[in-house]
Amino acid sequence: MTNFDERAKDWDSDPMKVIRAKTVAEAIRNAIPLTAKMSALEYGCGTGLLSFVLQSDLGYITLADTSQGMLDVLAEKISASGVDNMTPLRLDLSVDPLPGPTFDLTYSLMTLHHIADAKGILKKFHALLKPGGWLCVSDLDREDGTFHTDGSTDVHLGFARDELQTWVEEAGFSDVKFSTAYEIKKKIDGVEKTFPLFLLIARKAN
Ligand SMILES: C[S@@+](CC[C@H](N)C(=O)[O-])C[C@H]1O[C@@H](n2cnc3c(N)ncnc32)[C@H](O)[C@@H]1O
Repeated sequence: MTNFDERAKDWDSDPMKVIRAKTVAEAIRNAIPLTAKMSALEYGCGTGLLSFVLQSDLGYITLADTSQGMLDVLAEKISASGVDNMTPLRLDLSVDPLPGPTFDLTYSLMTLHHIADAKGILKKFHALLKPGGWLCVSDLDREDGTFHTDGSTDVHLGFARDELQTWVEEAGFSDVKFSTAYEIKKKIDGVEKTFPLFLLIARKAN
């Protein structure tokens, strides 16, 4: 059982995570003309907080994660809500073959820093998009290593925007834009610290 499997049941009881997802969803809505004709992939969906906010703006959403615990909670939420345009998928793009369908939009929140080969995943995101498709990634700006208070060491310490832009362009994307989508406030050793989250928007050429 992974750390995320253990945390899945309580994930949604943290109001910060719920507000973070709503705020990032609003930033995505403001940046991209979402339509009910679009098919989307959320990668690293957890319990689906972000996709539940966006589901009425989109046609169909595939929600992928590596944690079965997260996907079980997500499946319960989908069935309780009666929503019929969201499907959970256990998928690790680092090792699994690419799923068959391609998408108009791929988005990801607070997941890229957990992926060792972040550069490689960006190439997979590119391959999974239709021509003209959109990529949205929201994650930590470069931090000093104090963000993960649970002892996780197998993570990127956020990302430098200019370096990430280079990786995204090398993966084949263009029109890369950054904004600051949210700020996580955490007490570290009794002192409140602010961890900004960027929102990267990029496009696959037509
Ligand atoms: C910090 S949580 C964020 C969850 C959700 N996006 C949110 O904002 O509430 C990171 C998520 O990424 C998933 N994850 C970690 N490594 C992954 C990988 N290689 N591929 C897909 N998902 C991964 C974890 O299982 C977890 O659900």
